[in-house]
Amino acid sequence: MSNPQPPRIAGPETRPWQRLRELATTVGAQHLRDLFASDAERFEHCSARACNLLLDYSRQRIDAEVFAAFAALADAVDLRSAIAAMRRGDAINTTEKRAVLHVALRQRAGQQLGGAEVERLVLAERTRMLDFAERMRRKYRTVVNIGIGGSDLGPAMAVGALARYSEGAPRLQFVSNVDGCQITDVIASSDPVTTLFIVSSKTFTTQETLANAHAAREWIAGALGEAAVPDHFAAVSVNTAAMNAFGVHPDYRFEMWDWVGGRYSIWSSIGVSLAIAIGAQHFLAFLDGGRDIDEHFASAPWHANLPAIAGFLGVWNANFLGLPTLAVLPYDQRLARFPAYLQQLEMESLGKSVTQGGTAVQWGTGPVIWGEPGNNAQHSFFQLLHQGTPRAALDFLLPARSSCGRQGQHDLAIANCLAQAEAFAFGQPLDVAGSVYKVHEGNRPASIIAFDALDPATLGRLIALYEHKVFTQSVIWGINAFDQWGVELGKKMCAGLVPAVTGQGTEASAGAAPPHLGPLLETLRGWKR
Ligand code: F6P
Repeated sequence: MSNPQPPRIAGPETRPWQRLRELATTVGAQHLRDLFASDAERFEHCSARACNLLLDYSRQRIDAEVFAAFAALADAVDLRSAIAAMRRGDAINTTEKRAVLHVALRQRAGQQLGGAEVERLVLAERTRMLDFAERMRRKYRTVVNIGIGGSDLGPAMAVGALARYSEGAPRLQFVSNVDGCQITDVIASSDPVTTLFIVSSKTFTTQETLANAHAAREWIAGALGEAAVPDHFAAVSVNTAAMNAFGVHPDYRFEMWDWVGGRYSIWSSIGVSLAIAIGAQHFLAFLDGGRDIDEHFASAPWHANLPAIAGFLGVWNANFLGLPTLAVLPYDQRLARFPAYLQQLEMESLGKSVTQGGTAVQWGTGPVIWGEPGNNAQHSFFQLLHQGTPRAALDFLLPARSSCGRQGQHDLAIANCLAQAEAFAFGQPLDVAGSVYKVHEGNRPASIIAFDALDPATLGRLIALYEHKVFTQSVIWGINAFDQWGVELGKKMCAGLVPAVTGQGTEASAGAAPPHLGPLLETLRGWKR
């Protein structure tokens, strides 16, 4: 599980990268109108289907030559062996010297991803967690996940996405923000007797999560007595000592492992709130969906490999076409939290500027990810995307079937999605527009990721597609997608500032804030009095 990693060559240091530079000035400079005009079968040439997903990238400024250069680039950086190293459990998270085994979390018996011991641990904990989820489903009326980042976004997004599958389940609530407003609202709307809190924290040291967990604990102990605490708190963590100190009963706690990154952890017991919402069978279907994409990613040739293609397009748009942001636009309200989920997955993974070898990158890396449900976005920020000066790449997510049983209305959503993708690609020239103010330049590149319906397996496939897309990009850029040192400095500074803000602690610690913060702190104190 800890084979040392051979140094890898990054994409920009290879010959195919030079070829892509040339192609950016020819193919990349063409208008999508011309690319479509020159190839009557562009959809056939620029789309791929696998695992019941359709990736239509015909509206990307790419052609067969660009694609061939990317396939050569994938070989030059040896993406294939990087995938194998991940599945074996090599320590590919080099700065933390850890394996990266979210793929092992969705394996079935006999696959031995990460080795026999990892498989045994995963399957045993999965069975315990799903059994617990089924029992809690019947026992409680409100279930509150307390966690932040990867211990919140995945479950919160997936519970929303699969709302249709949670009939008969308790009401699921998510509390993440340190400011206390969410926990206040949850407490105000819940009955302590019928409420279960799940403290989800890989480390069990996260300030936000501990503040909320202690507020919840006080509420339960105050209402039902200290002895009731073990019955109302479950936890998921690697930190056994902290779970002991909090008073979590051994039957109510679930293990995770340091080889699961927070933003890749929904497949572990961190997904227990999702399992309570949708039930064990649907949770297993969700894992199956993720596994479908794992097998596809590990075996499909590049021209048919959805995550690899999505990764190539990400690199093409960011490094060669100068598009530093990606807007994620689901045409399904149930996917409202999907852009936020992807923000952590992509930006915490790819927001790096040092290579795995420890040198500063000389090329652009992860783009800014943002987005909203597409139909709402049409009436807010699409104006800028159509006619403004900043440019963005676009991902449209499009189910064929309604997620709420209103196919007639969902058909309108489909029509809107296709209309927008067409308008972004083809635009509207002056002779048609009739006025300079109505000109749409078009040529805004977009992918459409279409699928049958937003069911558990499909959601699993979508998430795994983006996970492996991110991995593909990280291998090409030569960076580690699995550490997140950039979040540490602010955390450390915050711990140092708490005494100055609260006025508690020793005189020395309260006075330890940098002098230039003095006037601001004093103003805030004045308003609090
Ligand atoms: O601050 C970022 C982060 O470390 C994420 O990577 C992680 O998902 C989140 O905090 C929560 O961490 P934990 O699960 O340990 O509470």
